[in-house]
Amino acid sequence: MVRVATEDDLGSLGPLWDECRALAGAAVVATRAAEILDRVRDQLRASQRAVESGGHPTYRLVYVAADDQPVGFASFSVVERGLATPASAVLVDVVHVDGGRRKSGVGTALLREAVVFADEVGAGDVMVNVPPTARDVNRFYARLGFAPVVVRRTAPVGHLRRKLGVEPRLDARDATVDLTPVQRSLRRRALLTPRRSPARP
Ligand SMILES: CC(C)(COP(=O)(O)OP(=O)(O)OC[C@H]1O[C@@H](n2cnc3c(N)ncnc32)[C@H](O)[C@@H]1OP(=O)(O)O)[C@@H](O)C(=O)NCCC(=O)NCCS
Repeated sequence: MVRVATEDDLGSLGPLWDECRALAGAAVVATRAAEILDRVRDQLRASQRAVESGGHPTYRLVYVAADDQPVGFASFSVVERGLATPASAVLVDVVHVDGGRRKSGVGTALLREAVVFADEVGAGDVMVNVPPTARDVNRFYARLGFAPVVVRRTAPVGHLRRKLGVEPRLDARDATVDLTPVQRSLRRRALLTPRRSPARP
């Protein structure tokens, strides 16, 4: 049976998040479970505040447990789809089922909850993040009717800065206040590393 996670459940989900990250890679799941679960906690609280002030929930984490141990989870965020589309969507950030528990209906049960959540918040679509190289996972979603609509390409800002010849900002308004001294020093060194001139158009 699928359970809606509360803050108290988060600790037990750590190993599954780490397994998911190991499979997906850091480009898709950027940080370790401990940090992700801090963000999940923040999302749960923000969602709770939205409900308390009379709105819809904005976030939900669900999981399936066997013998009281989580064997699969899914994370759902309500997202706007940009100016071109008025209806919001439920974004399935991640669905992950324990490697030894697949093909017994857990993934399908988790996705049913995405539909329930979409109904609850009035979202018109359910979207899912899938690494393009994960063939089995893509096939699983395709069979449920998920079609690729856009390809989202991503590039690190530092790389684009070099490619496009955008000068770094070293002034006091740089948003480095949250960085540790080591991170700040690494960032400064990266910014000051000589780079190739951009190709002329
Ligand atoms: C994709 C994923 C979520 C599917 O979860 P799952 O629990 O295996 O999903 P289900 O069991 O509901 O369905 C999977 C398949 O098993 C089949 N199935 C379901 N119950 C079954 C059963 N009792 N017996 C046999 N087959 C069954 C389904 O029909 C489905 O077949 P299909 O893929 O041909 O459509 C899971 O494989 C997974 O977590 N993969 C890794 C995801 C990953 O890469 N994560 C990191 C990036 S985000």
